[in-house]
Amino acid sequence: MKHILSINDFSRENLLDVIEEARQIKASPSIVQDALHGRIIATLFFEPSTRTRLSFESAALRLGAKVIGFADAATSSTKKGETLEDTIKIVNGYADAIVMRHSETGAATRAAEVSNVPIVNAGDGSGEHPTQALLDIFTIHETRNMKHETIKELKIAFVGDLKYGRTVHSLSQGLAHFNPKFYFVSPPSLKMPEETLVKLKNQSINYQESNTWNEIASEVDVLYMTRVQEERFSDKAEYARLKDAYVLNKKTAALFKDDCLFMHPLPRVGEINPEIDTDPRAIYFKEAHNGLWIRMALFLRLTKKDAV
Ligand code: NCD
Repeated sequence: MKHILSINDFSRENLLDVIEEARQIKASPSIVQDALHGRIIATLFFEPSTRTRLSFESAALRLGAKVIGFADAATSSTKKGETLEDTIKIVNGYADAIVMRHSETGAATRAAEVSNVPIVNAGDGSGEHPTQALLDIFTIHETRNMKHETIKELKIAFVGDLKYGRTVHSLSQGLAHFNPKFYFVSPPSLKMPEETLVKLKNQSINYQESNTWNEIASEVDVLYMTRVQEERFSDKAEYARLKDAYVLNKKTAALFKDDCLFMHPLPRVGEINPEIDTDPRAIYFKEAHNGLWIRMALFLRLTKKDAV
């Protein structure tokens, strides 16, 4: 039994296997409709979520499993002061796998230390969001015609809150298997954490940091926008100052190539104008929908003996 705590739990080969499995499930979902019959999946969301929780729950239901859990920790015994470890030990008695999101970085790892059933990290504070990275890579792969070569040597701009945004921490590590070139575009105070940069240096990944996208826009194959993570700011005036640092609208979208992919893990709160939704380069809704197939593929792997 293994957990999914970090994108680094996946080798290049594992990652490509998950993508291939998701592709097959998306093509014929009925083949796996009873694969998890009799199992119970728990979703413990200590932090808000729409896409991640509902796509995990939909994935479990579509595989024939049943789902228990909470979407608001204020309705759980956390509110009475129960520790995360105790909650996890209790749910171990009720479910065959636990999907959890928590505001503390490292919370999923803590949970795994006391859990006999698989823990899936659905976001831990400003740490990681490994399943989002998988669905993002799947979406790039699918949009670029399903050839492994098409996710190699991509030029990718990550834009926005690279400090607190957990999706970019996982996605940059996941894509590091495919010899990318990264452009990290953020205000100076929201730069990619040093820890991630050190990992990329050790992997000999080519990256460049800047606080504007003007010079690099015409080069990139993927523009990955992110939300400035208001909930991580103690100084709300600082958040207000930074939240609209980069806005994709008709004017700024014109800077990017005709075949650049516009991605965003969502929710967006102003950084992509809805006028871009009909631009053929915008694939963020498809990206969110693809979460279902990736999460079905992950549940199948977690229930196999030779998991992940
Ligand atoms: C992201 C998250 O929770 O990290 N959302 C998601 O899961 N799709 C991004 C965000 O909240 O900004």
